[in-house]
Amino acid sequence: MTTRLPHSDASIAAAADTIKRGGLVAFPTETVYGLGADALNATAAARIFEAKQRALNDPLIVHVIAKSGPAGLAHVADLSRLDANARVLTARLIERFWPGPLTLVLPRRPAVPSLVSAGLDSVAVRMPNHPVARALIAASATPIAAPSANLFGHVSPTTAQHVLDDLGGRIDMLIDGGATTIGVESTVLSMIDPAGPLILRPGGVTRAQLEAAGITLAPSRSFATDAEKALHAPGMLASHYAPRAHLELVDDDAAATERVAELRARGERVGVLLRDDNAAHSPRFVLGATLESVAQRLYSGLRALDDTGVDVIVCARADGPAGGLAEAINDRLSRASAKRGV
Ligand code: TXA
Ligand code: MG
Repeated sequence: MTTRLPHSDASIAAAADTIKRGGLVAFPTETVYGLGADALNATAAARIFEAKQRALNDPLIVHVIAKSGPAGLAHVADLSRLDANARVLTARLIERFWPGPLTLVLPRRPAVPSLVSAGLDSVAVRMPNHPVARALIAASATPIAAPSANLFGHVSPTTAQHVLDDLGGRIDMLIDGGATTIGVESTVLSMIDPAGPLILRPGGVTRAQLEAAGITLAPSRSFATDAEKALHAPGMLASHYAPRAHLELVDDDAAATERVAELRARGERVGVLLRDDNAAHSPRFVLGATLESVAQRLYSGLRALDDTGVDVIVCARADGPAGGLAEAINDRLSRASAKRGV
């Protein structure tokens, strides 16, 4: 049974109790809903992998509330093992972007079970900026390991209903904090790469924002072999974030409208994600005109159209300044569209 609770002081206390006893609690963050367990308890963390049917080589993000203390960064990451320059940059990033949608990959302390980090010597850490997430970590008095609260490979959840649709019955508790505001996951930035800070996953903090904070990023790189990828950028599967329907990407709304007509003429059941509600197609889902609203609604749109039973979803790639939020949106769109034939 999964208990679904509205956000209140009592539900935070009950959820913290569940975390402390090694249970699983789904909760909202500013990016997407997370599926949380005590990050220092290997048995609890193992239950996350089981509930999500997640591959054991895909490490979890650990959520902290402060720099020190029982649920603090210093408890899970050993900054003294960073080289001097990376240590200075890490301090600057934390100052500038925490709490917020930036995850830092840092040297792992032995207190974090190796399972949480999929056997790596590093740990991914973030300090979320959502009142429910913050209250839950504080009340649990332990760092909380939390991947997105969806079944492995599926679209991430941005509402409590999305979580129930994927994981209902598989988790102990769910705190409903309404729809998340950012809508795409955090940016994952490695601080342990010899080439300098390296974006492993674009997300809520943009490349332009990192550069504006004086961070010189390592050039993005594709890892040559699967072994190299597993070591440096684990979990970055081509076919992630996927709806059941096939997702087809086009350049703009006009092209989407044309493509929908073509596919319909062939007898396919088609749904469309649009920036503006200027078409009569049904089913359709409107993402809005700004990159922020596209990011916020994208996963809801993919899930809503999937629920109508269409075979194909057509959507335009995001168009925006280099280094902006369009990078994260297009990363998710291309992963979601990579499903057919994988
Ligand atoms: O916004 C978010 O980051 C959300 C919310 C819940 O905080 N969480 C999230 O977690 O997206 P998840 O599990 O779906 O993504 C975790 C990803 C892994 O797939 C991997 O790419 C990266 O973070 N990661 C975690 N630990 C890592 C490590 N030690 N080294 C490199 N990458 C790591
Ligand atoms: Mg995920």
